[in-house]
Amino acid sequence: MERVFAYVIVGGGVAAGYAALEFTKRGVSHAQLCIISEEPVAPYERPTLSKKFPPARLPSFHTCVGANEELLTPTWYEEHGIELVLGTRVESVDVGQKTLLTASGETIRYETLIIATGAKALKLEEFGVKGSEAENVCYLRDLADADRLVNVMQSCTGGNAVVIGGGYIAMECAASLVINKINVTMVFPEAHCMPRLFTPKIASYYEDYYQSKGVKFIRGTILSSFEFDSNGKVTAVNLRDGSQIPVDMVVVGIGIRPNTSLFEGQLTMEKGGIKVNGKLQTSNDSVYAVGDVAVFPVDLCGRIRRLEHVDSARKTAKHVAAVIMEPDKTGEFEYLPLLYSKAFSFSWRFYGDNAGEVVHFGDYLGTKFGAYWINNGHLVGSFLEGGTEDEFEAIANAAQLKPAVDDLAEVGRQGLNFAMTG
Ligand code: FDA
Ligand code: NAD
Repeated sequence: MERVFAYVIVGGGVAAGYAALEFTKRGVSHAQLCIISEEPVAPYERPTLSKKFPPARLPSFHTCVGANEELLTPTWYEEHGIELVLGTRVESVDVGQKTLLTASGETIRYETLIIATGAKALKLEEFGVKGSEAENVCYLRDLADADRLVNVMQSCTGGNAVVIGGGYIAMECAASLVINKINVTMVFPEAHCMPRLFTPKIASYYEDYYQSKGVKFIRGTILSSFEFDSNGKVTAVNLRDGSQIPVDMVVVGIGIRPNTSLFEGQLTMEKGGIKVNGKLQTSNDSVYAVGDVAVFPVDLCGRIRRLEHVDSARKTAKHVAAVIMEPDKTGEFEYLPLLYSKAFSFSWRFYGDNAGEVVHFGDYLGTKFGAYWINNGHLVGSFLEGGTEDEFEAIANAAQLKPAVDDLAEVGRQGLNFAMTG
């Protein structure tokens, strides 16, 4: 059997949902668009999975509620004539023939393909540690992982969890576990948490708070192996520094790898992702890529980047629909990177690029503080914890406008006012 669609999206995550909405806004006809997803549910707002345990339940967090837009339930796709093929993995794609083959044996032909395959969690086995399959070792990428994690957590209330990693998943899961009365120890190789973004000063604020909630930090070492009981359940974690921590459950958040394998050898890859131009078009004219898998030019940063965050997934997806539906009216994708996280009562945002020297400002003993990144005499990045919408908007504008800065100490003294009055 073979079906033909004008537009096919491979992958049914955040980017697919936002692209679908934009396609309809731009007048896509019934039966022109098909989304094929390995997950058994319609696209949803993935960030919901880590903000509290148990997370909200579908259908309440289907895309595009995260951006205060329509809630796209399965019925919405039906009503808009969008073919949603769920629970079906795409096994291969032939970009020369413009066809793809699904796990159910169907061949689908497309005129234009959008790659939105996202990423998969890195497994401990890639670092030489066995045990990912144990019943109390949890990863968190999709809804099935979240359900599993919550079940494991509920089976060991009052028990001990080791959280492996010091990034986003680790920080957000540690908070959600503690709130559920689990004792948490975080283990990561770096000197402080969130090493890809936080300065030592920013990290120390959050680490102190987490410690006040009972979280223990073991820095500068990694897991070397697990101890198992006779049922194959992990009972302890052995660290490279020789220490051992007894556990009831383990959560692993050690980064991701973009899902590019369908296209290796067919499209140009860079920085571990699929390289696209300012129109989000890959090295093949009929194929576009968006979201976590895409490496795109970010003019504000002066280089190509692969971003692993929901705002860029949403916005690349909307832009690609515009490029495809209204090519003459749509320019290049212009983007100001936005990263954010929420845990306990914290809420921070970062805009721009974290390159150059850092000036901290605000009250690092209180609840509102931030930092600016200054590179080659210009402000290029801004971070704020505890801001109001107006304040977040001001720091976003500052990162967008890149004002000249010649006196770093003065900018530090002005702090948030520098962005608010800029
Ligand atoms: P996404 O991963 O959402 O979707 C990819 C889809 O493709 C999946 O449904 C997958 O099953 C499917 N797929 C892959 N290969 C396939 C194949 N061969 N055939 C069929 N289907 C296939 N970001 C942020 O800025 N703030 C936040 O608070 C959070 N919080 C957060 C929490 C958690 C738990 C996670 C895992 C991630 C976040 N993120 C985040 C990151 C954010 O969710 C992420 O950047 C987006 O989901 C990326 O959207 P994509 O659509 O690119 O991939
Ligand atoms: P990450 O890249 O944020 O952090 C990975 C962390 O793993 C590193 O900081 C490091 O501490 C640790 N690490 C690496 N190798 C290790 C090893 N061998 N042993 C122990 N620790 C090791 O990735 P993540 O936290 O796994 O998040 C996965 C994805 O989900 C990312 O794309 C992230 O952007 C996304 N996410 C984003 C948010 C958000 O933006 N608020 C929230 C959750 C998840």
